[in-house]
Amino acid sequence: MTEFEVAYARYLNAFNNGLNKFCDGLKCRPQILNDSLVYSLKLGGKRVRPVLMAAVADIIGTGAEKVKNFALALELIHTYSLIHDDLPDMDNDDYRRGKPSNHKVFGAGNAILAGDGLLNTAYSVLFDECLKGNEYVSAAKYICDCAGIYGMIAGQSADLAHERDKTADEDTLEFIYEKKTAKLITAATVVPSILNGGKYFSELKTLGKKLGYLFQLTDDILDVEGNFDKLGKSLGKDEAEDKLTGVKVYGLENCKLRVDVIGDDCIKIIDGLQGDTSFLYSFVNFVKTRLG
Ligand code: IPE
Ligand code: IPE
Ligand code: MG
Ligand code: MG
Ligand code: MG
Repeated sequence: MTEFEVAYARYLNAFNNGLNKFCDGLKCRPQILNDSLVYSLKLGGKRVRPVLMAAVADIIGTGAEKVKNFALALELIHTYSLIHDDLPDMDNDDYRRGKPSNHKVFGAGNAILAGDGLLNTAYSVLFDECLKGNEYVSAAKYICDCAGIYGMIAGQSADLAHERDKTADEDTLEFIYEKKTAKLITAATVVPSILNGGKYFSELKTLGKKLGYLFQLTDDILDVEGNFDKLGKSLGKDEAEDKLTGVKVYGLENCKLRVDVIGDDCIKIIDGLQGDTSFLYSFVNFVKTRLG
């Protein structure tokens, strides 16, 4: 394993241990509610957002421990967004994280409730953090805004609104990428700054935006030429639903060229940060070359 893989695994395991405890503590009635929440949370996933948040917190001196519950809240929100994203009236995806989507197992009604439940619980986790002080309130609000109607929800709405869009323009694509994906990734890079007196706030905000763009660009490429076993979700769904994707706007080969350009943008931002940033450089490479 490379140094980066070892560090990633360390952050991942620490996060998953906390998440497993959180799941073990859930005592919902009826049982199907408990089961549907735990099903999606424990399916796995790369945990990119919590890992990134913990790593940035360590790099800028906030410390991973301080962001732990924010990382949990963010992953709850991300998981809810995936459950709803897969619903028949959204992307109609039968697989997620290598297993049947939540609604394929529990039905659409229960999947909607599981998503709602995860979002509400995330807010509850964030409110607990707010009791610790003003900067915690600001960090909690930042996550809420990133997830909300000017954030991820706006992106998901635009994603639906521009299905079968004949114009396929670059500005709309940027809006969709920024909102539906980059906002939650920006929450991961910015929360450690808010909890540390705003250190590198604007750099980390721009880094989150660029990394989010890169992440969705590679997601769109993988939808065309990925491998189900590595990706854990069905392929060719974007074309089937005629989504406004990077591939539709730029074409597959140009998307791959853009991966390098946006990756370089990320590197330039990281160049401006002090401390041991080696994890971040490798993280960019990981997003650029990911297969899952
Ligand atoms: C999938 O996110 C949705 C996108 C924003 C492209 P991830 O690729 O992070 O999904 P998991 O959490 O690893 O399953
Ligand atoms: C999803 O984008 C983004 C969110 C869930 C907010 P996609 O629809 O492309 O994600 P996948 O490909 O289903 O994971
Ligand atoms: Mg979608
Ligand atoms: Mg989808
Ligand atoms: Mg996709």
